Amino acid sequence: MKQLELTPRLRAAAELVREGSSLADIGTDHAYLPVWLLLEGRISRAIAADLRPGPLERARATARQYGCSDRVDFRLCDGLTGLYPGEADTLVIAGMGGETIARILEGAPWVRDAAVTLILQPMSAQPDLRRWLWQAGFGLEQERIICEGEKLYNIFLARFGVASPMTAGEEWAGRQCPELDQPLRGEYLSRLLKKAQRALAGLERSTEGKDSPRAGELRQICRELEQMEQEWNTWQR
Ligand SMILES: C[S@@+](CC[C@H](N)C(=O)[O-])C[C@H]1O[C@@H](n2cnc3c(N)ncnc32)[C@H](O)[C@@H]1O
Repeated sequence: MKQLELTPRLRAAAELVREGSSLADIGTDHAYLPVWLLLEGRISRAIAADLRPGPLERARATARQYGCSDRVDFRLCDGLTGLYPGEADTLVIAGMGGETIARILEGAPWVRDAAVTLILQPMSAQPDLRRWLWQAGFGLEQERIICEGEKLYNIFLARFGVASPMTAGEEWAGRQCPELDQPLRGEYLSRLLKKAQRALAGLERSTEGKDSPRAGELRQICRELEQMEQEWNTWQR
């Protein structure tokens, strides 16, 4: 049988799962991540949950193909609604928009517990998710930046407990310090800055946009990202 290979994005998320965790993969689709962890012997059981029957059927097919159907619980549910509070100590929510991830977490107060590890991989709205996390009391313990094809992806490791407020620029790019182990950070900052500058230019072209509060916010974000980029480049010398 062909070995199950994860894409770099899913592999990076899987590598953050501590050995022996009780895992739930929310929005599992093919269930590649939990099945890979089971095959590697890093976990002994997993919950694979999805909102829709089609993806959950694909998850069942993967588990069957790799001979681990008896070690996966399949749940058809929205977010965490199909789990008992505390049923898993590690939650992976990958491949969804940041706002959806925040909504899923908002709906499950039991995840506000330092014993629960969150591994989150937002496909969009990363600033909204970072903001939601710190405002809800979650600390971002680690962020990984992964390149797959041309795209960069973020993976957050978060836990309820010590949260500190972030500036708007930090919500865009994550907090940085010289010790940060993020080889792709320079490229990430440069892409974010271009994105913020494009958004600002678009807003300024519309006559009302010039003085709008959003334009002011974006100007501040661009300034912060520029400073972060300079600071990061200095640290790399
Ligand atoms: C793009 S796939 C991601 C699959 C896998 N997690 C990954 O990262 O490769 C997104 C999956 O999330 C599921 N999904 C979307 N909203 C969801 C929700 N509120 N609760 C559970 N699953 C959801 C979709 O049905 C879909 O199967």
